[in-house]
Parts: sequence; C-alpha cells; structure tokens
Amino acid sequence: MEPKFLTSLLTLLLLICLSTIIDATNEDATRKTMEEFSGYPTDSHHSILSFSLDSFSVESEKLQGQIEELSTLSDSPAPSVTRILYSEKDVLARRFIKGIMKQAGLLVREDAVGNIYGRWDGSEQGLPVVATGSHIDAIPFSGKYDGVVGVLGAIEAINVLRRSGFQPRRPLEVIMFTSEEPTRFGISCLGSRLLAGSETLVNTLKKAADAQNVSFFDAAKSAGYNLSPDDLSNLVLEEGNYSAFVELHIEQGPLLEEEGLSIGIVTAIAAPASIKVEFEGNGGHAGAVLMPKRNDAGLAAAELALAVERYVLESGSIDTVGTVGILELHPGAINSIPSKSHIEIDVRDIDEKRRNSVIEKVHESAINISQTRGVKLSEFNIINQDPPAASDKSVIDAMEFATKQLNLSHKFMISRAYHDSLFMARKSPMGMIFIPCYKGYSHKPEEYASTEDISNGVKVLALTLAKLSLE
Ligand code: GLV
Ligand code: MN
Ligand code: MN
Repeated sequence: MEPKFLTSLLTLLLLICLSTIIDATNEDATRKTMEEFSGYPTDSHHSILSFSLDSFSVESEKLQGQIEELSTLSDSPAPSVTRILYSEKDVLARRFIKGIMKQAGLLVREDAVGNIYGRWDGSEQGLPVVATGSHIDAIPFSGKYDGVVGVLGAIEAINVLRRSGFQPRRPLEVIMFTSEEPTRFGISCLGSRLLAGSETLVNTLKKAADAQNVSFFDAAKSAGYNLSPDDLSNLVLEEGNYSAFVELHIEQGPLLEEEGLSIGIVTAIAAPASIKVEFEGNGGHAGAVLMPKRNDAGLAAAELALAVERYVLESGSIDTVGTVGILELHPGAINSIPSKSHIEIDVRDIDEKRRNSVIEKVHESAINISQTRGVKLSEFNIINQDPPAASDKSVIDAMEFATKQLNLSHKFMISRAYHDSLFMARKSPMGMIFIPCYKGYSHKPEEYASTEDISNGVKVLALTLAKLSLE
C-alpha cells in the first residue's frame, strides 16, 4: 500500500473517531450547562450552574403520598373529595400546604384572603418574580388531582431544582390560590381575581353569603382571616411584580391520553361566564290548584334550562358549551307547586362574542318565559363574564424548550376549563402545562393522573421555571 494512501486512510479514521466523540458529547444531557438550558448566556453572578437533566429527579412516591394525604382532608367519603372554602377541612389543608412549603425551604406568607405564597429568593435583588401555582379547594364529590397537582407538584418542582444544584436568578414563588372553585360564594377564582384587581368583586363580596346565609367576611373570620373590604381592594398586584406565571394542571379533557402524548402546552384559556336566575310564582297545593291557574316557578326554570341547551347547540360550534349545574326549588315538597326556583348557568366558549350572544339569548328567553308563564323574573344576575386569556410567547417558548429537552411528546392546546391563570394573565405573562388524566375525567371521584404523568409535568415545570428565572 502506498504510504500516501495509508496516511490519508489513517487521517480519515481519526476524523470519524473524533466526530463520534463530539456527537456523543453533544447528546449527553449530563454535560449541558444551565447556560445551554436557559438559551441565554449566564454571567458570572449566576453562572457555574451546571446541572444535569439526569439528576432531575422527582420524588414521585413522596408526592403521591402527599396527594393521598391531602385527599383525606375532605367532607365527603373517599374516593371523592369535597373541600370548600374556609371550611374546617380547608383550614387543615392550608396548614398542610404551608408545612410542605416550609419543608421545601420556601419563605411562606399569606395574604388577607388566604392566598399562600412560598418564595425562593433569587441571586439578584429586585427582579420580578417567576411564579407557579394552582388551588386545592375541591367542588362537592370531586377528585384529588384538580388543582392539587399544580400546588404540590409546584413545590416538588422547587425540590427538583434544589436537588439539582440550581440557583435561580429571579425569585421563584409557589402560590396556592384561595377558592378557585365557585362552590361556596358563587365566585370562581376568588383569590386570583382579587390579585388581578376587581372593585366589582369587592362590592359583590360585601353582600355575599353562602347557602347557610353565612357572610363572606364571617366565613373568612371563622378560618382565621379577619379582613375588611379595604383589605380586599389592597390585594391587587402592582404591574411588573411578576415576570411570568406558569400553572401545572391535569388536562380535564381526553385529548392527551387519546393521542398518547405526555404534555399539553396551553396557548389560550376559554372564556367562562356564569349567571344566576330566580323565578317566583304563587306556589300552592299540588292537588287543589288546577293547571290553568298555576304559575309554576319550577317549570319556568326547567324551560330556561332547556333553552340554554338549545342556544348552545345552535351556536354552530362544538366549542360552545352550557351547563345548568344548580336547579333548586322552593319549598321542595312533592305536594307543593314550586313558588321559587333558582338556577345557575355556566356558559363557555373560546370565542367571547359567540359566548356573549348565547348569554343575550338566555336573557331574552328568561324574560319571555316569565311573561308566558306569569312568573316574576326576580333575578337575572351575570356573576362573571370573563374574556379569554392568551398564553404569552415567552412562557410558551420556555415550556416548549423544557418539553423538548426532556424528550417528552407534546401538543399545543387550549384550556376549556378556567384556571387562576386566566386572572394572573392580567398581571403577568402566563402559560399552562397540562398532563393527561384518565379518560379526561375531572370534577368527579374517578379523576386520576398516573405518577409518571405527574412526574413528567413536574419536570417540565421545573425546567420551565429554571429557564424563566434566568432570563
Ligand atoms: C374550573 O374548575 C372550571 O370549572 O373550569
Ligand atoms: Mn375544578
Ligand atoms: Mn382546577
């Protein structure tokens, strides 16, 4: 063999070897530094942060144990969970969350209405906060994952980051919001709405009472929150306090599971609205009052409930949904014509205009029904008529980056359920991470998310927070 040819062959072999070594190095996630993770150069103040994605481990068993323990703080028997705002179980659950936040080394504080914050200070003073969180209240007879995954999972995400040796530049904060569910006072996302600032809500709360006629302020007091209307107004967040808010949540729909995907990156949250309606009639004896003489408040409510379904179906879009989840009759006796009816209507759409047009039709229908049935429409009260919220590109990018780094399959999707993120979006760039849940079940005891899916969600959240905190 020619010596020249031999030298060329050896050089080629050497090059092949070298490029294999370089490729292996690039693929090895353990060699990635925080600078690569963040996508931004890290300066000397917050550099030397190299952590490996292999050391990114979630203590799934411990987390599952916490989810199980929290689910026992319930006013209904297992497997269902019922945890209502300011109830005894809610107070115990709050104590439980504060304890876990402290164990994670977070600095815990609570505001006047009971939003709970756990802070991990950043390496640079005075920067806006990167926050995450969700709720732990649970509607009657629901499951153990709705909201809870976004609170306990967020605290575990902090633990993951700590264990990996990460040091945030911006502060990181976990928030447990007060009463995302509207169960007790008919107002959803109470804590986050107040943070976003709503004088209308403050005025509503001044008059609000629950089904047992306990006022909002008395209920809060019984849970240890002795607050005044001024305290509520003062909760509003200053602009620029938060540079990002990310919420981890079960999907509450079937798409991720059906498509075999691990992560949903939420691009927008649908627009929810809720309405309270009351009809009043003369009531009377079920045997003695003949049909032509009746003005039955119960039938007026039933007719309105069917009208809601009709208008929703007529909207022309599968995205319009309407539910009558509460229908109460007074006096509630089999042999008494209802003299009062109370119904609560939930209407949602990703298209705000289309949702509003359904609400207008429902209003017209309530007026017509009251006229044709000779009942009084004593209340038609739109409790909330919220606009949708879009996720911020900066947060979407961070979530997508994290998902890709962790080699998890994902899709972009909208959230049809509402979340505290809808209101945090008014004060901060927002995004949401969804994980699959069994058959999309939620708001019922069968709600379930696997430890693997929860663990994936926690990792994506941790890496998203890490990236956002270095920006
Ligand atoms: C939240 O619980 C919702 O009803 O979307
Ligand atoms: Mn819920
Ligand atoms: Mn929820």
